[in-house]
Amino acid sequence: MSAATPLRLAILISGRGSNMEALARACASGALAARVAVVIADRAGAAGLEAARAHGLETATVVHGGERRAFEDELAVALERHRPGAVALAGFMRVLSAEFVARYLGRMFNIHPSLLPKYRGLDTHRRVLAAGERIHGASVHFVTGELDAGPVVLQSQVAVEPGDSEATLAARVLATEHIIYPRVLGWFAGGRLAWRDGGAWLDGRRLTEPLVEDFRGAASL
Ligand code: GRF
Repeated sequence: MSAATPLRLAILISGRGSNMEALARACASGALAARVAVVIADRAGAAGLEAARAHGLETATVVHGGERRAFEDELAVALERHRPGAVALAGFMRVLSAEFVARYLGRMFNIHPSLLPKYRGLDTHRRVLAAGERIHGASVHFVTGELDAGPVVLQSQVAVEPGDSEATLAARVLATEHIIYPRVLGWFAGGRLAWRDGGAWLDGRRLTEPLVEDFRGAASL
């Protein structure tokens, strides 16, 4: 991807949108060679929509009326209007059908707050604390038809500290999400990361396991 044609990135959100903002900042600073083409929320009241507008980004809302097929058809229209080269799910709380995901296979990413394949699904921080884990983190992965199961590209690791609450642990993990998500999309935008033969390839090599960035010693999280 040359500097003249930056990757067009669509970001899907449902809530606060802090990962969306991290991606937007990375694009604005040039750290990520992409341009946010649109931020789409599935809830009119998503706080992230306001934040996106404050960053000068185009926004759209596609509300789920109760029927997934109709929702996804409308979502596809809203996305294609902006011709995205990549789609980033960033706190998007809808499960997308395998058919929808297939349209964007190899260029749709998600960030999940656990060290996948552990703790797929919701309430990851609470479950990690209940299980007495010592290490937790977040994963950036390609989205496939199976929920939270696509090939993981990069994970952040943080320590679970004695006395951590769900909130303190979530905040520590979130700070690392804001680092690793722009990094992975930067690799993709720069042509270093690709989807081939059903897997993730970085710099011409198939990733047989996720890359790991260890934040356990980081003082500022
Ligand atoms: C993040 O923890 C992300 O990993 C998960 O949902 C949360 C979204 O937070 N998928 P935000 O909306 O990006 O602030």
